[in-house]
Amino acid sequence: MTEQTNIPFGRPMLGQEEIEAVTNVLSGTQLVHGPVAKAFEEAFAKRVGAARAVSLSSCTAGLHLSLFVNDIGAGDEVIVPAMTHVATAHAVEFCGATPVFVDVEPDTGNIDPVAVEAAAGERTKAIMPVHYLGLPCDMDAINEIAKKHHALVVEDCALAVDATYDGRKAGTLGDVGCFSFYPVKHMTTLEGGMVTSNNEDLADAIAKRKAFGYDRMLGERKVPGVYDVDELGYNYRMNEAQAAVGLVQLAKLDAFQKARAENFETLRAELSELDEITVFEPRKGKAVSSHYCLNAVLPRDGSLDRAEIIEKLNGRGIGTSVHYPRPVPEMRYYTERYGFKAGQFPLAAWLAEQTISLPVGPHLKPGDPERIASAFKDAIGDARA
Ligand SMILES: Cc1ncc(COP(=O)(O)O)c(C=O)c1O
Repeated sequence: MTEQTNIPFGRPMLGQEEIEAVTNVLSGTQLVHGPVAKAFEEAFAKRVGAARAVSLSSCTAGLHLSLFVNDIGAGDEVIVPAMTHVATAHAVEFCGATPVFVDVEPDTGNIDPVAVEAAAGERTKAIMPVHYLGLPCDMDAINEIAKKHHALVVEDCALAVDATYDGRKAGTLGDVGCFSFYPVKHMTTLEGGMVTSNNEDLADAIAKRKAFGYDRMLGERKVPGVYDVDELGYNYRMNEAQAAVGLVQLAKLDAFQKARAENFETLRAELSELDEITVFEPRKGKAVSSHYCLNAVLPRDGSLDRAEIIEKLNGRGIGTSVHYPRPVPEMRYYTERYGFKAGQFPLAAWLAEQTISLPVGPHLKPGDPERIASAFKDAIGDARA
C-alpha cells in the first residue's frame, strides 16, 4: 500500500513563477505605489467585469473603507448577516456605526432578504450581503430593499471570486465588492484584498483613503515628497511583491476554478448516498457558486456528534474547517457590547454548530475527493452507531 499524504483544508498554490515575480520586484527599487499593483488592479477589474479595482492590504480593509468613505458612522446602522466572518461586522464597528444582525436562509446560509426587509429602517445606511462559501446572495431582493432605503450595498466577496448572479460576477452586484487574497482563498497574495466598483468616484475615494488621504500619489507629485492631506486616510496599501504574486495567481485562476468545481462535484456525488447529510446546492435561482468548499450540513437535531466526526477525519489526514464557529453576535465582543443572547439567530447557530467544511481546492490530487468521501462516510457510520 502506498503511503497516503495528508489533505489539508486549503493550501496556497504557489510555484516558481510567483517566486520569480517577487524576485523581480525585490531586485528593483519600487516596492509600493508602483506599476505592478496598478497592473494587478486592471487585470482583476477585467476578470470581474467591473469598471475599477483598487488593491488593498486585506478584504477587511476594503469592507472598512467602503463604509468609511461613505461617511457611515455614529448613529448609523448597517445590516450584516449573523453568519459570517467577524471581519464583516468589525468593519461596521471600526466606523462607530451599529451592526444590525439578521439571520440567514436555511438552504444557502446567505443573508435572508425577508429578515433584511424587517430590519431595515430610517437609520439603515448600508447592507452587507456576504456570499456564504461562494454562493451569491439573493441580490435582486437585497438591491431592491437598499434602493428603498437609499442604502449602500457592500458585497463581501471574500469567498466568491468568479461566483456569478444572473451572469454577472460577484463584486459588480452591489455598489462595491470586497475580495480577500488570504492564503487559502481561491487565489492568494499572501495577505491582501481588492475592492471592485462600477462607481468611479467611490473607487477614487477608496484609492485615496487607503493611502493616508494624500491629495497627490507618488507619481503625481511635482516636487518629490511634497503633498497635502485633505481627508483622513489609513495605510491599507498592497505592496508590489504581493501584487506580483496576485498577477501570477490570476493567470492560473481558470485552472484553479476548474479543479474546485470538479472536486466539488465528485465529492458531492460520493456523499449523495448519506440521507441525513445536506450539501447546499452550488446553484440557486440566478446564483452560481465559486465552490470555496463543500459544507456538509449535519441534522438540526444534533443527532450526529460533529466534534467526533471532525476528529475521525483529521485522524485520517483529512483537513476540515468550520464556517463560522459562532454567529457573530454570539462572539464575546458582541455579546458583551450589545447583550445578544444565544438562540437569537437560530439558523446561523445551526450552521455554526452542525456544519463541516470539506476541502475541494486545487491542491487535491486525483483520488483525493474519493478518499475524503470514504473517510467521511466511515465517520458518519461510526457517529450513527
Ligand atoms: C466572509 C469573509 N469576509 C472577510 C474576511 C476577511 O478577509 P481578510 O483576511 O482578507 O481581511 C474573511 C476571511 O476569511 C471572510 O471569510
